[in-house]
Amino acid sequence: MKKLAINGGEPVRKKPFPKWPIFGEEELQMLKDVLYSGVWGVGGEKKKEFERRFAELQNAKFAIAVTNGTTALEIALRATSVGLNDEVILPSYTFVGTASAVVYVNATPVFVDIDPETYCIDPARVEEAITSRTRAIIPVHVAGQPADMDALRKITEEHNLFLIEDSAQAHCSEWNGRRVGAIGDMGTFSFQSSKNMTCGEGGALLTNNEELYRKCWSLHNCGRVLDGAWYEHRTIGGNARMTEFQAAILLAQLERVERLTDIREENAKYLTKKLSKLSGIQPLKRHPKVTRHSNHLYIFKYFQEEFEGLPREKFIEALRAEGIPCSPGYTPLHKMEFLRGKTSGTLKVTEDACYRRAVWLKQNLLLGNREDMDDIVRSIIKIKENVKEILQN
Ligand SMILES: Cc1ncc(COP(=O)(O)O)c(C=O)c1O
Repeated sequence: MKKLAINGGEPVRKKPFPKWPIFGEEELQMLKDVLYSGVWGVGGEKKKEFERRFAELQNAKFAIAVTNGTTALEIALRATSVGLNDEVILPSYTFVGTASAVVYVNATPVFVDIDPETYCIDPARVEEAITSRTRAIIPVHVAGQPADMDALRKITEEHNLFLIEDSAQAHCSEWNGRRVGAIGDMGTFSFQSSKNMTCGEGGALLTNNEELYRKCWSLHNCGRVLDGAWYEHRTIGGNARMTEFQAAILLAQLERVERLTDIREENAKYLTKKLSKLSGIQPLKRHPKVTRHSNHLYIFKYFQEEFEGLPREKFIEALRAEGIPCSPGYTPLHKMEFLRGKTSGTLKVTEDACYRRAVWLKQNLLLGNREDMDDIVRSIIKIKENVKEILQN
């Protein structure tokens, strides 16, 4: 009789993991407030209140709530006047939106490799990629782990470059006691469906710099000026304003985000302790200066040689069959020719992560209890112990 679920055996886990999004009466009440107020867009109070409270959450002076995370990045880049003939350094191991924002402003994305321990941009590779055309660096806080902001700030100060944090996955994450998003010149967030705070689609932009704030505000609001008249336009700007409905849901989500972050932190630490004991499985390392981690994703490295040569794709299939949803994650952006990017050096770590090594678990898997984490560990051990069953098939 076959034991593994992929071969028809009994799965380790039959019940689902916690559902996402989490919502309740708070969202409903806030939505009703907006509906009945009749003010669904500009002029309402919810967007403004959310901006104030989100800036506070992330230790920033200013926030602007926008339509999505990709647009937030595009606006940030426009505010720095990055454009044609300019280069922007970013990791290839990220969501495509990080790079398409660079292309939207006519600049060239320059892809560099990631740190093998954290999968965040490698500051040493950033330094090698700087040319006379470089204008900005976009580190991505991958999975919610902040990139090495000390090293990156030092580089951008030395070379007079803008530092824009792609914090799409990093709500509540902290580098050395400070929340991400305004450690660099600007930071951007996403509230798309999968994110740790969500309103379906949405984004935000943070900064401590008033001049950049005013520029971004104009760019997200048809070129209007803060405190100006409705038809007072002083620059070209799109309409990227968040609606009152989106802001209402996010205000309700704000009430939960700290508690849910704590739960994920606790479960992630427990899972790391357990998984670190298994040969062939290596959770990503947490940089000692990461004082809080959103755990938007839980990423571990898979070594097929420790599983008798079982390819990662087969391992993922087997793990899913045991009742653990998981995926291989990103494909490398430097291979996407339509982005017309440049590659600096070899991107061996990125390619290894994308093609062989990374296994992703989504944030909602970490919202349950220790038994859920034990199911993940048990499933991996079961696959390891019965790997021959798959290899012989
Ligand atoms: C790292 C990263 N950057 C940018 C984005 C783009 O955000 P959005 O989907 O809200 O445009 C996302 C999310 O999808 C992301 O994960």
